Amino acid sequence: MAPVYANANRRPPLAVVRGDGEFLFDAHGNKYFDAVSSWWVNIHGHSNPTIAQAIANQALELEHVMFAGVTHPPAALLAEKLIQHAPAPMAKVFYSDNGSTAIEVALKMAFQYWQNKGMGAKKRVVALEGGYHGDTFGAMAAGRSSGFYDPFTPWLFQVDFIPTGICACTEEEALAALDQLLATSAEEIAALILEPLIQGASGMRFMRAAHVAELCKRCEAAGVLVIFDEVFTAFGRTGTLFSADQVAQFGGHADIICISKGLTGGFMPMAATLTSQAVYDAFLSDQVGHALLHGHSYTANPLGCAAALASLALFNEESTWANIRHIEATHQRWLPTLACHPLIENPRVCGTVAAFELKSSHSQCGLGYGSNASQWIRQTFLELGIVVRPLGNTVYWVPPYCTTPETLENAYQTLIQVLQRWGTLIAPGPGSELF
Ligand SMILES: Cc1ncc(COP(=O)(O)O)c(C=O)c1O
Repeated sequence: MAPVYANANRRPPLAVVRGDGEFLFDAHGNKYFDAVSSWWVNIHGHSNPTIAQAIANQALELEHVMFAGVTHPPAALLAEKLIQHAPAPMAKVFYSDNGSTAIEVALKMAFQYWQNKGMGAKKRVVALEGGYHGDTFGAMAAGRSSGFYDPFTPWLFQVDFIPTGICACTEEEALAALDQLLATSAEEIAALILEPLIQGASGMRFMRAAHVAELCKRCEAAGVLVIFDEVFTAFGRTGTLFSADQVAQFGGHADIICISKGLTGGFMPMAATLTSQAVYDAFLSDQVGHALLHGHSYTANPLGCAAALASLALFNEESTWANIRHIEATHQRWLPTLACHPLIENPRVCGTVAAFELKSSHSQCGLGYGSNASQWIRQTFLELGIVVRPLGNTVYWVPPYCTTPETLENAYQTLIQVLQRWGTLIAPGPGSELF
């Protein structure tokens, strides 16, 4: 068997020299639709002039200063705006510099919260199976079951995993698993961490807001903190500014919310861990040991704050929300077509995110992350002018909000072409052994 792309991992990267709106350009002037918003960070389009100008202005005023014993207007203003927009009970902001560090801060905050309250026995973490929270050690421990960390498992701390309530397990079974854990061990559990509404990296797995709310309510009743990892799902991705807004409609609330990716509109690496007044108050003390001693060189970088303020301001414009709605409408319009397609299963839409699985039963090949088939899909879309990044056999669109209806429509037409080629490739007969 000769794999099509035996050296797939050694393919030269796409050399991008410019970005404009929903498009990327290589050195030869070829144009690509960034259908995954550059790993989900870009929300208002590449090189957005409003955000670019805000960064330039800030750079001429103050580019950076350490954030220990020092503060500055962009950080203070951004914290104020984030809290204005965030759902209750968010009241305080802790800055860091990427999604993984936002998670580390959240976990450390939860652990130390209980220690500061004299309840240090509460040190276990509960997470949902398949959740992904980043690549630092705490984040890897909480996301261990996503399957990305095999070489590092000996170093990951123990985490209790409960089912998500999707796929093989029902919501009732998932709630029962949490109930049982809380009944026997609540006094040892510090926090439950989860990605509300969408588990991103493990394959765009959708959860109902009502179910997430039930998980939250049970934790609240049992005295367990809830951490929402909204690194992917915040800033309009699921149709509301925070996914927590939709959970709140069913009476569920987080104590801590992690944000990054879209925070700066995709311009600057930056993150924030939001929390409630009650959690914050547990750190107020005359003893330095009660403080959350966590800081990065670039914490609250003023350029990042300026970008985030400009990005947030764009959500005050009705056109941003109109764009979000038109993306969802286009996804919804294509759903029935995808649902009938013989090579597709489980097409689904949540806000601006659309995803489906390629039917693996049609092929002899594994469709795992980094598999030859997955590489083939990525390469074929690229040749047709679209950047995608399948998660195993899950293909998805996560476009920047400025994506025009024509661009998205063309992407769906291209998808149909790719599926035709895929069908020929995996059909029994000569060539089917290529994978
Ligand atoms: C839900 C979620 N949490 C955390 C992270 C980690 O973010 P970062 O890559 O910025 O460290 C990611 C990254 O994809 C993510 O999707």
